[in-house]
Amino acid sequence: MSLSVSRRLAAVTAFAVAGLFASTAPAAFATPTAQTAAPTPPDIPLANVKAHLAQFQTIANNNGGNRAHGRTGYKASIDYVKAKLDAAGYTTSLKTFTYNGSTGYNLIADWPGGDPDSVLMAGSHLDSVSSGAGINDNGSGSAAVLEIALAVSRAQLQPTKHLRFGWWGAEELGLVGSKNYVSSLSATERAKFAGYLNFDMIGSPNPGYFVYDDDPTIEQTFKNYFAGIGVPTEIETEGDGRSDHAPFKNAGIPVGGLFTGASNTKTSAQAQKWGGTAGQSFDRCYHSSCDTTANINDTALDRNSDAAAYAIWNLGASTPVPPGPSFENTADVNIPDSPGAAVTSPITVSGVAGNAPATTKVDVNIVHTYRGDLVIDLIAPDGTAYRLKNSSSSDSADNVVATYTVNASSEVANGVWKLQVKDVYSADTGYINSWKITF
Ligand code: TRP
Ligand code: ZN
Ligand code: CA
Repeated sequence: MSLSVSRRLAAVTAFAVAGLFASTAPAAFATPTAQTAAPTPPDIPLANVKAHLAQFQTIANNNGGNRAHGRTGYKASIDYVKAKLDAAGYTTSLKTFTYNGSTGYNLIADWPGGDPDSVLMAGSHLDSVSSGAGINDNGSGSAAVLEIALAVSRAQLQPTKHLRFGWWGAEELGLVGSKNYVSSLSATERAKFAGYLNFDMIGSPNPGYFVYDDDPTIEQTFKNYFAGIGVPTEIETEGDGRSDHAPFKNAGIPVGGLFTGASNTKTSAQAQKWGGTAGQSFDRCYHSSCDTTANINDTALDRNSDAAAYAIWNLGASTPVPPGPSFENTADVNIPDSPGAAVTSPITVSGVAGNAPATTKVDVNIVHTYRGDLVIDLIAPDGTAYRLKNSSSSDSADNVVATYTVNASSEVANGVWKLQVKDVYSADTGYINSWKITF
């Protein structure tokens, strides 16, 4: 379910069209010259994702209880996914490798169109361990990525970027398939990747909501989705480099991903904010025979599937990262002429989880007859001052109408923020007309 996110996206699109963020988007996701609005991401049907999981369970049941590398259940899983993609109009390719004396398979699916020099890829490992069916690990990521690929086809999406999807073999034996794929790419091919998104374990039965702390644009996109549905997230800490994004990251490709937890224990603080059971693993069936279709939290699977689609739609369309919530004060505050005291205009921020982003935006609108007179600071709730603008005896222009980007990542977002303005040269005067802070 997607809830309020599409409404927010409409507002975001207006910013994108105005090109306000053109100079601030990181290189890999730079705003294209011909900016088009990102289409609204779909609500990925949970029932469809679960139907794929039921098929993976049946495949395991019919093949000795697992879908592991070198076993018949793995190849049957690959055949299932490939048939769906072929029928939906994908260009698929099965890439083989050999490991432990067995043939391994990566499945790569390209959605025709988009810029071939700017590839956005999403992937997940399709193999299980040999002890079970691997429905959370990693039927969950595999089924979500498959259903998102099918949703791309249903929408006949034509994003700016070229979309590619991947299902990796032999992850459980040391990221073997994804390493094999990345090492098969030439330097030229690697340079075409705008990003790689990884989905490994996204339906854990006692779930946490973890976002990989990697490429900031990808990370922020996922965080914005979860902020939009009011679900707090944490940074993934159960082993950076323990899944298939690692070979991409090592090759210099921007990566990100989602995770609902494996064998680590949910703390009571985490149970407070996410529900579930404190003192218990996120997935008590991790790598064991009870990792069946009963080992899935539907809400987590639903939210993460929708978050993944949101990221692919937005990042694929090359829209800049959608801004988080904004807070504005439009009350006028007179700025006394020098030598007068500094004045402030407050904004109370609430409902924003965690710290402010490294790209906190401050829009300032000050009416003044000589803006060089003014020294402007942003004051964080704890009193830390961030200089936005210094005085300048030679800047005689009127008014300050500007957007400043502040790295406020060490500040808690909630609390009272202030815009502080001091006039340091006599004669000219003015007032704070309005200001706005965007997280
Ligand atoms: N990749 C691991 C597996 O398949 C699970 C895992 C552990 C993980 N820590 C992670 C996945 C962190 C993603 C991120 O068994
Ligand atoms: Zn695993
Ligand atoms: Ca003055």
